[in-house]
Amino acid sequence: MADVSRRSWLASVAMGIGLALSYGTLAVQGVLFLLPERLKPRTRKLFTGNADQYEVGSVRSFYDLEGNLILVSRTSDGFQAFSSTCPHLGCRVHWEADKRQFFCPCHNGVFDVNGAPVSGPPADGGQHLYPVSVEVDASGAVFMEVKDVKRRRT
Ligand code: FES
Repeated sequence: MADVSRRSWLASVAMGIGLALSYGTLAVQGVLFLLPERLKPRTRKLFTGNADQYEVGSVRSFYDLEGNLILVSRTSDGFQAFSSTCPHLGCRVHWEADKRQFFCPCHNGVFDVNGAPVSGPPADGGQHLYPVSVEVDASGAVFMEVKDVKRRRT
């Protein structure tokens, strides 16, 4: 009889914890739904030149608002941008124009023009370069969309 009551008590506790987690998750999702603009990460578009300033196959470098180097490339398919931070262990990747590849000198990681891993540890781990959103407007101006920095109140 004592086992049955202990078992039912444990079942009640487990059910209570499950309900609390479920309702907690529901409450968080409700808040996120009601306040999406305040909680959404802010981004900012940074001008990275005009499309005619990029030759097909060229890569230009820009810093985002947090000081990270971004690599903007033009291919025959259009524009792409990637973080220069290697997805393996965070070293800085650079463009090798003669080989038409991105290269990470720390462990000889190689990425193709689309940021896909070709060889080295990133290829072993299936790690692509981190993409950065880029767009070209009707006038041919190229923008990369980066995370905005928090504004300090003065
Ligand atoms: S940090 Fe880039 S290949 Fe290891």
